[in-house]
Amino acid sequence: MQLHIFDTPEQACRAAAFLFAAQITEKADSVLGLATGSTPIPCYQDLIAFHRQGLLDFSQITTFNLDEYCGIDYKHPESYHAFMDRNLFDHVNICRENIHVPSGETDEEGAKYDEMIRAHGGIDIQLLGIGRNGHIGFNEPADAFSYGTHVVKLTQSTIDANARFFNSIEEVPKKAITMGIGNILSARKVVLVATGASKAEAIYQTMRGDITPQVPATILRTHPNCVILTDREAAAKL
Ligand code: GLP
Repeated sequence: MQLHIFDTPEQACRAAAFLFAAQITEKADSVLGLATGSTPIPCYQDLIAFHRQGLLDFSQITTFNLDEYCGIDYKHPESYHAFMDRNLFDHVNICRENIHVPSGETDEEGAKYDEMIRAHGGIDIQLLGIGRNGHIGFNEPADAFSYGTHVVKLTQSTIDANARFFNSIEEVPKKAITMGIGNILSARKVVLVATGASKAEAIYQTMRGDITPQVPATILRTHPNCVILTDREAAAKL
C-alpha cells in the first residue's frame, strides 16, 4: 500500500483525479468504481473540468457506485444516486445506461449487482473515502469481512455523521446496500482519499493497526495496488 501525504485536501483530491484521468486516458472503456461522501467532491469537480477542457471522454465509461441508502427513493436529494448525478454524471458525457448504483433491500439484489460487475469484466479503479470508524463503502466494523454486495445496518456513529445531510436524525436511513470488502479487493486498483482531522484515527488504524474487520479499511493493506492519498490533518497521527 502506498501513502502520499499532501499539504491540503484539494491536493489530495486532485491526485486522485489524476489517477482516474490517467485510467480513462489509457482505457477509454474503463469500469470505474465510485464513492459518495463529501471527500471525493473536489475530485469529481476536477474530472468535470478535465472533461470540459476536452481532456476526458466518458462516452465509453461504465461506473459502479459503492453503496446506497435503503428506503429512500432515487429522486430523494440525499440518495447517493442523486448525489452522483449532481456532482458528476450530469456534467460529463457518460451514457445513462452505463451508470450503476446498487439499490434494493435484500442480499439477493446485491448478488445481482455483483453479477453485473462481473459481466463488465470487473472494476479497473475503485475510489474510496473512509468513515471515522474505518468503514469503507458502508462496510461497518464487524466480526468478519463481507464478500459481495449486501444489506447492512448502519452504526450510530455513521448515522450521526450523515445527519448533517438530512433535516433531522430521524430522517437518516438506518440501513444501506453496499459492495462488500470482496468487491473492493477485486478492483484492479484502489484509491482511498482521506482529508481532515476527523479521519486521523481511522488513517492511523488503517496504516498501523492490526488487520481486522473491526476496522474494515485495514484489509486494504492486503491489496497489491492500493494508494492512500491524505492531507496533513488526516495523516497527523502517523
Ligand atoms: C459514507 C459513505 C462512505 C464515505 C463516508 C465518509 O458512510 N458510505 O463511502 O467514505 O460516508 O464520508 P465523508 O467523505 O463525507 O466524510
